[in-house]
Amino acid sequence: MPSVCVFGAQWGDEGKGKIIDRLAQDAEFVVRYQGGANAGHTVVVGGAKYVLHLIPSGILHPGRVNVIGNGVAVDPLKFIEEVEGLRKRGVKVDGSNLRLAAGAHVIFEHHKRIDQASERWRGLGRIGTTGRGIGPCYADKAARTGLRVADLLEPDRCRRRLQAALAEKNALLTQVHGEAPLALEEQLDRYTNLGSVLRPFVGDTGAEVRDAYKRGKLVLFEGAQGALLDIDHGTYPFVTSSNTGSDGVSAGAGFPARWLDRVIGIAKAYCTRVGEGPFPSEDHGADGVKIREAGNEYGATTGRPRRCGWFDVLAMRYSLELNGADGWIMTNLDVLDGFDEIRVATGYEVAGRSYQEWPGALVDLSEVRVRYESARGWKTDITKIRSYDDLPELAKRYVEWVERLVGVKIVMLSVGPERDQIIPREGLAAALAAV
Ligand code: IMP
Repeated sequence: MPSVCVFGAQWGDEGKGKIIDRLAQDAEFVVRYQGGANAGHTVVVGGAKYVLHLIPSGILHPGRVNVIGNGVAVDPLKFIEEVEGLRKRGVKVDGSNLRLAAGAHVIFEHHKRIDQASERWRGLGRIGTTGRGIGPCYADKAARTGLRVADLLEPDRCRRRLQAALAEKNALLTQVHGEAPLALEEQLDRYTNLGSVLRPFVGDTGAEVRDAYKRGKLVLFEGAQGALLDIDHGTYPFVTSSNTGSDGVSAGAGFPARWLDRVIGIAKAYCTRVGEGPFPSEDHGADGVKIREAGNEYGATTGRPRRCGWFDVLAMRYSLELNGADGWIMTNLDVLDGFDEIRVATGYEVAGRSYQEWPGALVDLSEVRVRYESARGWKTDITKIRSYDDLPELAKRYVEWVERLVGVKIVMLSVGPERDQIIPREGLAAALAAV
């Protein structure tokens, strides 16, 4: 059985939660390896909606082990809130089906305050972060001043490291951001208490995941955000602070890159983006609004309206190649049910030069003029269709046209938020099993 990484191939919100939930039926381990509670993975089961921010989307399947890897930035308050929310709804969550890496970095109150204050300083250059403390936490990780989950379990070590961190953060909060300082004793109390609640979940998750793989179990890696928000390869500086694709798995989960057998990208049949930053195929007119309303394109974490636009072939080819995708899954195809004409971005022009491939850091992407090609819409409700052959001809024509333009096989389609609103294509079994 293979190891499979499922990642967002656009700017996040591609519907990864639902796909992971579906693939988790066959998996033993589902592993988050980056990001934090900035993610909002939605899974709908029998009309009941679950929005998961930190906990992997395999949690709704009994018997699966869900892992929060060392590369995740963990807000213990959010972790506990999510565990309790699931338990209240009858989902079993304990140290046997939810594991937390001892080496994962902890998001503290000061990270969230600094995240929000830094955005105010950036003014027009603001990133539009989720305000969840992600960037400042990863910055401390790189600066080697962060605290990890294991530190919360050791009161003396926690005191030493938090005291040193707060001395600097309080100076920043008070002298640069004009905010009140945080009291060491109060913070220590709060976070060591949280640490004792985390204890039963904590372990050497890298070893646990490697062991499952060596025993022949299917291990799924669940990416958060999207490839175009990748800190190294996305639309920097308008990105998140982690490696969001298959590039994040080995460092963020303690799983050798060579052991990753399959990589599947997830992308909508159109594009969306939350927050600031270039989005070449954004539609500022009535169609953008229509996509937002038909797709209920409002952030699962922040409730912000998402910017909407058309499928971008250049961006997609880039992110699938970068992450070595064997295939991809097209989600939200049903959102296009009501359109007479569907546009697809197939080229860019910048300063008189035309591009057929993603120009990345070579050009200012906000200056891009997009060349579009169009397909006719199918104007039929496809949400109840479960077999590819039953799709309207024009819908199949759109799917196959986009697939040809991208040059990578579409292995599954999603036509609604429910678990069963899936249309498999023959490539999926091959993509997952041919190892
Ligand atoms: P941060 O991850 O909170 O630092 O935000 C950085 C950028 O990533 C902002 O543009 C956010 O809107 C975006 N972002 C972060 N998490 C997600 C997500 O799960 N989906 C979509 N966009 C996200």
